[in-house]
Amino acid sequence: MESKASAPGKAILFGEHAVVFGQPALAFAVDKRAYVSLKKSSGKKSTIKSTDLNFEASFDLSRGIDILKNQKKGIVNYILGALSLGHDGSPLEIELSMEMPVGAGMGSSAAVTVATLAAAYNLHHKNIDISNLAKKAHEVELMVQGAASPLDTAVSTNGGLVYLDENSEISSHQAYLDNSLILGYTSYRGNTGEMVDSVRKRRERFPQIMDPVIESVGNITRQALKLLSQDNLDKEYLGELMNINQGLLDSMGVNTPELSRMIFNARKYGALGSKITGAGGGGSIIAFCPGKLEKVLHILQKTDSAINADFSKEGVLIHHK
Ligand code: PMV
Repeated sequence: MESKASAPGKAILFGEHAVVFGQPALAFAVDKRAYVSLKKSSGKKSTIKSTDLNFEASFDLSRGIDILKNQKKGIVNYILGALSLGHDGSPLEIELSMEMPVGAGMGSSAAVTVATLAAAYNLHHKNIDISNLAKKAHEVELMVQGAASPLDTAVSTNGGLVYLDENSEISSHQAYLDNSLILGYTSYRGNTGEMVDSVRKRRERFPQIMDPVIESVGNITRQALKLLSQDNLDKEYLGELMNINQGLLDSMGVNTPELSRMIFNARKYGALGSKITGAGGGGSIIAFCPGKLEKVLHILQKTDSAINADFSKEGVLIHHK
């Protein structure tokens, strides 16, 4: 039997970094997915293949989580972590296909983890409960990378717009932003842990200055949630909130010349708002460009990579043949 599942990547719209200090964050599922297919194998070993990522490997799954220690870091670890929770260790033929870049802050690891868990549960005819799946996927992320907020796995599981509130509670929301979002990414990915640490240090050095900055980002995120819940979205207002959030991210010290170049190019060519998305220090930007999508894509692709990354209502999906 073959079992195939997929899950979307994510982009943070508002609240990165401030969320580390107890403020809310708002993220959405991107219409770029990770697909994982699992097939029981008649061989002794398990195999994994990804044409998109250009790798192939074989290993003994019955060694469970132990093999994680011997694996190179990377996306395979998340598959193995998920299988250690959702599968019995018998040999599998695993196939992974990715529509999103890995390591660009698009939550590729969470998408792969959620898709693998769902495919494994389906293979074993287990009932898939969405909130339990999100919880298990977060456990896998903690197991593999040590620290992780539950935001990425919640978005990959639920799809749509996801709000992480002041108490780290997750809620799902509707949003109406059609075909107007772009993700631009530099070839250099900032290290999330190091970026979080540098913001923490700046806050320690300048508490009276940085605390209000962090609080302001929280206020932006709260306003954005209200705004996005309305049928008749005030697009200019939303764009301006993104630009203000960007100024505050800059004051936290997570901007780079490359990110700034993309952010200002996007605005120059018609984006209503553009900002860093994720940890910064390299990595990605998000631009909101109603009616100007092609123009902004084109200008960003001249110097960096950029994709149209729209909202996906769909979270995790099982693909029946
Ligand atoms: O760049 P990403 O996708 O790893 O996002 C990091 C977001 C931070 O707020 C900077 C850290 C976090 O754990 O929330």
